[in-house]
Amino acid sequence: MCGIIAAIARKNVVNVLKEGIIRLEYRGYDSSGLAIINKKNKILRFRAKGKVKNLIKIIKNKSLSGHIGMAHTRWATHGKALVKNAHPHISSNVAIVHNGIIENYKKIKTYLQEQGYIFLSNTDTEVIAHLIHFTQKIYNKKSLFNIIQIITKKLEGNYSMVIMDSNDSKVLLAVRSGSPLLVGKGEMGNYISSDQLAFSNIARNLIYLKENDIALLTHNNVTIFDKNGILQNRKEIESEIKNKSVHKGKFKHYTAKEIYEQPVSIKNTILNRFIKNETVYFSELDVKAEKIFSQTEHIQIIACGTSYHAGLVSKYWFESLAMIACDVEVASEFCYKKILVRKNSLLLIISQSGETADNLNALKISKNLGYLGSLTICNSKSSSLVYESDFSLFTCAGIEIGVASTKAFTTQLTVLLMLVAKFIHLKSKNFKLEKKIINLLNILPNRIEEILKHKKSVYSLAKKIFDKKNIIFLGKGEQYPIAMEGALKIKEISYIHAEGYPIGELKHGPLALIDSNVPIIIIAPNNNLLEKIKLNIEEIHSRGGLIYILSDPFAKFNKNRNIIRLPYIEHLISPIFYAIPLQLLAYYTALIKGENIDQPRNLAKSVTVE
Ligand code: AGP
Repeated sequence: MCGIIAAIARKNVVNVLKEGIIRLEYRGYDSSGLAIINKKNKILRFRAKGKVKNLIKIIKNKSLSGHIGMAHTRWATHGKALVKNAHPHISSNVAIVHNGIIENYKKIKTYLQEQGYIFLSNTDTEVIAHLIHFTQKIYNKKSLFNIIQIITKKLEGNYSMVIMDSNDSKVLLAVRSGSPLLVGKGEMGNYISSDQLAFSNIARNLIYLKENDIALLTHNNVTIFDKNGILQNRKEIESEIKNKSVHKGKFKHYTAKEIYEQPVSIKNTILNRFIKNETVYFSELDVKAEKIFSQTEHIQIIACGTSYHAGLVSKYWFESLAMIACDVEVASEFCYKKILVRKNSLLLIISQSGETADNLNALKISKNLGYLGSLTICNSKSSSLVYESDFSLFTCAGIEIGVASTKAFTTQLTVLLMLVAKFIHLKSKNFKLEKKIINLLNILPNRIEEILKHKKSVYSLAKKIFDKKNIIFLGKGEQYPIAMEGALKIKEISYIHAEGYPIGELKHGPLALIDSNVPIIIIAPNNNLLEKIKLNIEEIHSRGGLIYILSDPFAKFNKNRNIIRLPYIEHLISPIFYAIPLQLLAYYTALIKGENIDQPRNLAKSVTVE
C-alpha cells in the first residue's frame, strides 16, 4: 500500500528520503512526495504524479537541505492519483504522511470547513493535517505529542502516520494504527518507515511499533508511548535484510530474480526443519501448538489472492494425505457472512506480508468464535498477523519486491506440505508417508532448477499468446488452483483477461467461449487423472480450441496436439513444480508486451486497506 519514510538526523536527510522512497516504490506508485524543514524552519514540499522517478526529476537540481523530513509513495484510496492528492499534506506549520483510511473524515472536514479551513485535496489525509493545526490553536501551550494524543481520539479508521512541525523541528512524531511502522536507529540519526527496506542501508537496529503506539524521534533518541501515554520499553531487534537483497542482480526485473530464486528460497524454507529426514520439526511451535494440532479435526483456511490459491492446493493435501477436513475462503468474504465454526477447528491464515487488512479483520472477527487456535503462515516475522495469531510458521522466501507473488507462493506451499506431514505424524501416524513427503521436499529444489532450464519452450508459448484478449487455464485436482494462479499471474502482469477453471467443469458453460482465438492452457501431468483430462481435451479440440498442454515426458496424447514437454515430477510435489512455468509464462508475456512487470498498474504489494 502506501510507503512512508521519515528521518531526523545530524546530517542532511534529503538523500536518505530519496533512496528510501525509491526502495518503497513497490508499495504504491501512483504519486509520491517529499518534504523537509529547512534551516529557516520552513517546510519545503515537492510532489509528483506517477512513478517516483518523476519526483526525483523535480528535486534533482535543487540544493535541498534539512535535518528533518518525510516522503511518501501513494496508492490512492480517497482522491484520484493527482499531484494535489499526493502526500505530504500540509496545514500551515504541520506536515504529515499517512497510510490508512479515515472513515469519519467527511464529518471532520465539514466541521473544519466551518472553522475556515480550505481544503486543497480530495484526500482523507488532509483532514488530519488541519485537525492537528486547529487543535494546536485551541491548546497553544500543549506539545505536539499531547496534540496527537487528543486528535487520535477523534479519528476513526486506520491512521499510521508521521507528523512534523516547523515550529519544533527537533522532533518527529509517528503513530501506528492499522498498518505497520517501524523505527530504525542509525549512527547519524533515527528513521521511521512502513518497511525496513527503506533504511536497511543505514539503520540496522529496529523497533516495531505496536498498535496505537506513539513514537517520538529526535536525532539521538527514540521514545515510545502506548495509547494511554505510558512510556514503553519496546524490544530492539537487528534487521534481517542484507542490503544486497534489494538489488536486481543480473536480472532486468525483481519478478524474474524472484522466480529464479525459488530453488534457494525453498531450500531455506526446509532447512533445519527435518529431524533425521524422518520427522518434520518447526522450532516456532511449542507443546501447546502440538496439543492443539492433535485435537484438530477441521482446518479453516483464510487468505487472499495468491495466498488463497496456496490454501486451495493444501486443501487437497490436508484431506487426501492427513485425512483432515479443510475449508478455504477468501478473507474479504469470510468477514461478511455467517461463520459456522466446525468442531475442533483450527484457523489457518496464509499471507506473504502479514499485513493484508482483510486477513487481519478475519482474524479479529474469529477471535472468540470457538476455534481451537489461530495459526499464521507468513513471510514476515514481525508482521501484524504474526503478532495477533496464537502461533506462526515462517516461509523463508526472503524479501519479495515484485508485486506479483512468486517465490512467496511456492514457499507457502512448501510450509503447507510440511504442516500436512506434521499432522500425519501427530494424528494418523503414517510415518512412512511423512518420510515420503520429506524425501520429496528434499529433492524439490533440484527439480525446480531443472524446470527453470526450460525457459525457451515457455518463451515460445508466450510469443503465441501475448496478443490474445482472453486465455483459459485448466487443471484438475491439485492442479486446478495452480491453473487459477496461472490466470492470476497473467492478469496481474500481462493485463490479459484470463480464467482458471477445473477442466471437467468447462462443459457446464465456459465451453461456449472456445474458438481458435482463445488459448487454452492445460496442466496435464502423467498422473491418475490424466485419462479424464484427455477426454476433456478432446471435447475442446472438437470445438476448434487452441490447445497448449503442459505435461511431462511420459504422458501420451493424440497426435498433433501442442505439447510443452517439461521434466518429470513426482505427483505429490507437482503443484509446486507446475506453478513455475506459469510464472515464467506470465513474465515473458508481459516482457514481450513491454508492460511494467514489477509494478503492474493499479496494484500494490500489500493491501493494508479493506
Ligand atoms: C499476488 O500476485 C498478488 N499480488 C496478491 O494476490 C496477493 O497474493 C494478495 O494481495 C495477498 O497478499 P498477502 O499474501 O501479503 O496477504
